[in-house]
Amino acid sequence: MKVIVIIPAAGLGTRMSPMPSAMDAKTKKPHPSKQFTDLAGTPILIHTLRRFAAVEEVSEIWIALRENEIEGFRERLTKEAATDAGLRNKKVELVAGGEHRQQSVEHALNAIAAAADDVVLVHDAVRPLVTAEIIHEVIAAAKKYGAAIAGLPAVDTVKQVERTSEGAIVKATIPRAGVVLAQTPQGFHYSVIKKAFDEATADGFTGTDEASLAERSGHAVAVVMGSPRNIKITNPGDMELAEFYLSRR
Ligand code: C5P
Repeated sequence: MKVIVIIPAAGLGTRMSPMPSAMDAKTKKPHPSKQFTDLAGTPILIHTLRRFAAVEEVSEIWIALRENEIEGFRERLTKEAATDAGLRNKKVELVAGGEHRQQSVEHALNAIAAAADDVVLVHDAVRPLVTAEIIHEVIAAAKKYGAAIAGLPAVDTVKQVERTSEGAIVKATIPRAGVVLAQTPQGFHYSVIKKAFDEATADGFTGTDEASLAERSGHAVAVVMGSPRNIKITNPGDMELAEFYLSRR
């Protein structure tokens, strides 16, 4: 049984910078996409990649990138592999991503060769603080249940709202005991994720994570404990928090 990791890393990350093509006032170079922004001197995507490369059970890592970023990243990978034994021992493949996250994952999914009970893990490129423990737990639960995600219990009270031109208006309070916030990694038997994606494509459904596709395909999805530190770097302020967590490791 293989464990194959897919890292969608083809987003523009427009909440981090105006546009990747816009010039950075300090460096006079184009703003990098969010996943290539330096975190403690190393691109976020490299941090994320190292986390998975260090896990023995992982045999392959597929990264979906924007077409024009593939060659540059391939060179960077060669340099990284020279000093990172974990990375040297893994098969790392680069594929072109799509317009949406789901398409990026789908491109990688279409490119891999897997058996029905191989485990496919999907992890956001911009969650570089994922731990080996969370990765192990998602793999174990995916093996056992066919589908599993890392999730975090909600500590804030969750409101359902209606968006109006004046702002949001609360419609209902959702009992937080029944809520978890979905993180990645999300893991699936290959047969489960492939069927879920084929059905979503046939129906024109787009979800914001892979589990939502498995759910609508009728598969139960188990939840293992994520971590408040497994943040998805989205806004500039998240970089400071991520640097702080990294420095405390
Ligand atoms: O933009 P968002 O926060 O949804 O991005 C989540 C992850 O999906 C990021 O790692 C991003 O690079 C990736 N993504 C992608 N292809 C896209 C859009 C986002 O691989 N077209």
